[in-house]
Amino acid sequence: MRDLPRIAILNGPNLDQLGAREPEIYGTTTWPELIELCRAWAAELGFDAAVSQTAGEGELIALLHEAGRDCAGVVLNAGAYTHTSVALRDAVLCLRVPVVEVHLSQPGRREPFRRVNLLADVVTATVQGFGAAGYRLALGGLAELLRPAP
Ligand code: DQA
Repeated sequence: MRDLPRIAILNGPNLDQLGAREPEIYGTTTWPELIELCRAWAAELGFDAAVSQTAGEGELIALLHEAGRDCAGVVLNAGAYTHTSVALRDAVLCLRVPVVEVHLSQPGRREPFRRVNLLADVVTATVQGFGAAGYRLALGGLAELLRPAP
């Protein structure tokens, strides 16, 4: 049997606090629940998902580099680094696989500093404002992007 295509689902700071963290903005799905949902959604699409979270900018960059070597695609919620990190933007530019950016909330409708997005023009696509379901939509989008041409 062939190995399933591997997808990295990478999450930045504070996403491990989901469920407890500002539920009126981010919803009530907890981080452990989101991990399980992502694995199940990925499996339905024929992917093997590796879900990870880190508060560290450098570690997130290292995870992106690793995903570029080992994975067919990336789902990335960089959290607050989305708005601040040139280094993360440069790491996305190193990749030759599709990167779908996800945000549970709609950052552009929140505080002005969240309207700055250093990743938007270097990722392949963005899904935002759908809560936890955004990860399912991002995985579905990756499946479309990775579907072999007819
Ligand atoms: C977020 C939006 C960011 O502005 C925020 O810093 C996060 C979560 C989202 O998923 O909506 O940590 O990326």
